[in-house]
Amino acid sequence: MRGLTGKTAFVTGAGSGIGQACALRLAEEGARVAAVDIRLPAAEETAKRIEASGGTAVAVECDVSSGRQVAAAVSRTVEALGALHVIVNAAGILAAEGDVVACSEDDWDRVMGVNVKSMYLIGKHGVPEILRAGGGSIVNIASVFGFTALPDECAYDASKGAVLNLTRQMAVQYAKQGIRVNALCPSDCDTPLLDALLAGGDVEAEKAELAKPIPMGRLARPEEIASGVAFLASDDAAFVTGVALPVDGGFLIR
Ligand SMILES: NC(=O)c1ccc[n+]([C@@H]2O[C@H](COP(=O)([O-])OP(=O)(O)OC[C@H]3O[C@@H](n4cnc5c(N)ncnc54)[C@H](O)[C@@H]3O)[C@@H](O)[C@H]2O)c1
Repeated sequence: MRGLTGKTAFVTGAGSGIGQACALRLAEEGARVAAVDIRLPAAEETAKRIEASGGTAVAVECDVSSGRQVAAAVSRTVEALGALHVIVNAAGILAAEGDVVACSEDDWDRVMGVNVKSMYLIGKHGVPEILRAGGGSIVNIASVFGFTALPDECAYDASKGAVLNLTRQMAVQYAKQGIRVNALCPSDCDTPLLDALLAGGDVEAEKAELAKPIPMGRLARPEEIASGVAFLASDDAAFVTGVALPVDGGFLIR
């Protein structure tokens, strides 16, 4: 991918799953990476893997739903790595929410806080730094469930729809200032988030069930999501902004 060498990427959720795969892939493409996660040891593990492969990384502890912590994490990144060009918002949660009747206010607020408010906060503190660096790219991990919906995930599905329109708003807002903003929409992907969701049952049988509506007949791998993210973050996508790119084995075309 063109244009990532020497750039600095702030990757949230970098301690696991999709965020970790994105951090590793961007580092492979030559970016210097801030591995950001609420679980510092997990972020440190990712940073260590990057450094062990000859890359540059810093681990940053941050709850992305806290404005104070996001401001500190962005400052720490710029201080440690010199600038900020790329943001990948991959931190996200799925609570056992249920429908709107069952969903507690706490679960609603927690899911919205981590999945959506985080992107506003990281924009608030990160966009001025990207502008200072002369432009860059933001990639938000949404979901196919930003377009369609499932029973029993009212907050999650609402949060992913909100991510898509925040992406469009920011894309329109910053297009002339050299910041591209895109979303990537995975279908079910084999990560610890999915394992946690399925825990208690026959996990492999449940995964096979989840794969059935996917025309390619299997779950996504985190590295496949990271490939799409690397494309959107790179200069190969120089004229791409405001899109919601499905990486879903054909899930949305059924
Ligand atoms: N796995 C899937 O099937 C799937 C499908 C579509 C979209 N997604 C989305 O992809 C993103 C990543 O999911 P994943 O499957 O890799 O999950 P994951 O649970 O494997 O990883 C999420 C990471 O985010 C971190 N995190 C959680 N809350 C945080 C907070 N408040 N502040 C900072 N970090 C926090 C966790 O510690 C973890 O390291 C999420 O937004 C998720 O909704 C996942």
